[in-house]
Amino acid sequence: MAGAKLPGFVERDVDLGSRNTLALPGRAALYARISAADQLAQLAGQSPARRFVLGGGSNLLLTGDYDGLLLQMAISGRELVGEDSEAWYVRAGAGENWNEFVEWTLDQGWPGLENLALIPGSVGAAPVQNIGAYGIEVSERFHALCACDMRSGETLRFDREQLRFGYRDSLFKQQGWHLDGRLAITEVTFRLPKSWRPITRYADVEAELAARSVDQPDARQIFDAIAAIRRRKLPDPAQLPNAGSFFHNPVVDSASADRLLAEHPGLPRYPQPDGRSKLAAGWLIEHSGWKGRDLGPVGMYEKQALVLVNRGGATGSDVVALMCAVQRDVREQYGVDLTPEPVML
Ligand code: EPU
Repeated sequence: MAGAKLPGFVERDVDLGSRNTLALPGRAALYARISAADQLAQLAGQSPARRFVLGGGSNLLLTGDYDGLLLQMAISGRELVGEDSEAWYVRAGAGENWNEFVEWTLDQGWPGLENLALIPGSVGAAPVQNIGAYGIEVSERFHALCACDMRSGETLRFDREQLRFGYRDSLFKQQGWHLDGRLAITEVTFRLPKSWRPITRYADVEAELAARSVDQPDARQIFDAIAAIRRRKLPDPAQLPNAGSFFHNPVVDSASADRLLAEHPGLPRYPQPDGRSKLAAGWLIEHSGWKGRDLGPVGMYEKQALVLVNRGGATGSDVVALMCAVQRDVREQYGVDLTPEPVML
C-alpha cells in the first residue's frame, strides 16, 4: 500500500488520541477527512484492504495503531427535502454532529428526535448501531440513507425496511460493514411525523418533567429534561473520557430471566416483543461490585455502572483488561454474557 498512488487529501501517520472519546492512544497509517462524497469515489477501488469509517469516535475502542486507511466522515449539510400531509423529510450529511442536528430540527419546528438528545456521535453513525434512549430508537424516525460502495465508487440507497434494524443493530452491523469500511454512509434522511406525541413513559423522564412542573411538555421541554438527566448521569467525554454505555443490555430467553428474577428480585427486566427479556447491564455490573471501581487507569463510572471511563493515560489494553474482568464477574455471578458496544479497532 505504501507505494500506491493516493489522492492528495490522504494524510500519513495521523494521531488518533483526540479523535476517540475514550482518549485512547494510537495512530492511523493513512487518514482522510471526507467532507464531500466525491472524495470517496476517488478513493474507491484503490484504497487499501484495511479501511475503517469513523464518525464522532464516540463508539470506538482503539487497541493501538491502525495500519489501514481511516476515513473520518465530515460531510455537512442539513435540509428539508420533502413534506407531505403526514411527515417532514429531513436530510443531513453523515458528518453532522448528532445533538446539533437534533436541536436544529426542533428549532425548525419539526419534533420527533427530542428523546435522543445529547447522544454523542455523528448523524452517519446513528443508524449503524440504531442509537436509542428514553423510549425511542432512531430506526423509528429513519427514512433512508445513501452510502458509497468503496469497491466501485457507486452510490447505494437503503430504505428503512432494507436496514433490518434491531436493538443497537442494523444491516451495517450484520454485514460487518462497520468493521471493514466496505460502505461509507454519506447522508441520512429522517421522517418526522406531523402527528407528534410526547414519549415520556420512562420514570426518569416523568420525574424530571414533574420536578420542572411541566404537565404537557412540548418537544423542546422533553429535549431539555432529557439533556439534564444525561448530564447528571453520564460523564462528558471532554471532562472524563468515555464511550457512553460500554456494554449492550443483554437479551435473554424468558426462562433464564424468570430464574434470575426469582433469585434477584431487584434486577430490572424489560420484556421484548419476541418474548425474550432485556436485562439492565448497569444493575448486573453494579451488583457484581464494579460500580465506581477502577482497574488501573480505567473504571466503571460511579453514577452509571454501564459507562467505562478513562481516568487518565489509559491504553486500549487497560480497557480490554477491565472489560474482561467485568464480563468474567457478571458471568460468574449471574451466568449472563455481556457484549461490548464499542467497535474494537
Ligand atoms: N442501573 C443500576 N445501576 C447502574 C446503572 C443502571 O442498577 O449503575 C439500573 C437502573 O436503576 C435502571 C436500569 O439499570 O433500573 C436502567 O438504567 P438506565 O435507565 O440508566 O439505562 P441503561 O439501560 O443503563 C440504556 C442505554 C443508554 C440510554 C439509556 C436511557 C443501552 C446499552 N444503553 O442505558 O444509551 O441513554 O438506556 O434510555 O441500551 C448508550 O448506548 O451509549 C447509552 C447511553
